[in-house]
Amino acid sequence: MERDIVSIFKTMTKRSKTQLAQIPILDLSDYLNGKPDAQEELAIELRAAMEDTGFYILVNHGIGMCLIEKTLEAAKQFHAQPYEVKMALKGNEHNVGYMPLNSSVSRASQIDIHEPKKPNLVEAFFVKRELHPKHPDVLANKLYRSKNIWPDELLLPGFRSSVIAYCHAMEDLCQRMLPIYAIALNLPSSHFDEPFTEATFSFRMSHYPPTEFGDQDQFGISAHTDSSFLTMLPQGDLPGLEVRLPGQEWQLVIAPEGSIVVNSGDMMRRWTNHRFLSTPHRAINRNYGKDRYAIPFFFDANVDYPMACLPTCHSPDNPPRYAPITYTEYMKWFSQNNYDHVRNNADIFAPNPGVPPTQSVRD
Ligand SMILES: [Fe+2]
Repeated sequence: MERDIVSIFKTMTKRSKTQLAQIPILDLSDYLNGKPDAQEELAIELRAAMEDTGFYILVNHGIGMCLIEKTLEAAKQFHAQPYEVKMALKGNEHNVGYMPLNSSVSRASQIDIHEPKKPNLVEAFFVKRELHPKHPDVLANKLYRSKNIWPDELLLPGFRSSVIAYCHAMEDLCQRMLPIYAIALNLPSSHFDEPFTEATFSFRMSHYPPTEFGDQDQFGISAHTDSSFLTMLPQGDLPGLEVRLPGQEWQLVIAPEGSIVVNSGDMMRRWTNHRFLSTPHRAINRNYGKDRYAIPFFFDANVDYPMACLPTCHSPDNPPRYAPITYTEYMKWFSQNNYDHVRNNADIFAPNPGVPPTQSVRD
């Protein structure tokens, strides 16, 4: 069944230059099976996706449907806990832990900044890389390198190990994609090995209650761009993600169950000097009467790596638009803007590090 849906999507994505861009499908089977030339062929497709849409849909990616379903179920169980139990795990300046409903606003990206944005109708639980309690970064309380905040094992047995297993699987897949990104940018395939040593990731387990019928201004997450190098969103059974592709109106993303919707974010746009897009999107649960859960995985470079304009993304006619920046420098500003629980834990409000002003056009 999934094959049939995928082939329909592939047919839809074959277009002439005059047609509007659609979200392309990228099939990883040849690449993961080690077929000769698969890397280069995939890189050509990825380059077109990143330059034309900023989004693509991964199929045959090796992440099993059972792992996706198990993780969605873990998100459901987490959010089914009493409010007081979740608030005991409230998030901190590292942006790990629980974020309650209506405590985030999509302020950081420059999308529709003149339109009023209601607080997002979403609650979430955030996890980063699990570090040993005696890791020097944990002991030093280094930003974004802290220990995670976990629910009591007696209340949610197996939750912690399931989440860690999911993060491992998603990080492996992201790492497998890095040579493809490098080739797509006309760089040696190993170019991202060093930046993504001890890479940074943020895993978010979101719960979107259904919106009230007719409430057009209330979003689960209002219009925004991501901060990330890339974001992977495995698809469950309920839709809710909408995108605004270049030159187009908002549209609902309909992707096969078990596929992974992938997009790039503002740090990618900065690092590539605007060569790759960071496309606006939003989430809304219009599945009336049904709660929706989402499990996006945000993948980024090492917290300390200085992301200077990539060598194939500038020239004398196209000089670098931004100074080098680290993940930590960018995310301090991003998360303080968007999340009440981070802002309330901050000593000093971080300065704007230079957010790309135009996310969805090549300029
Ligand atoms: Fe997003």
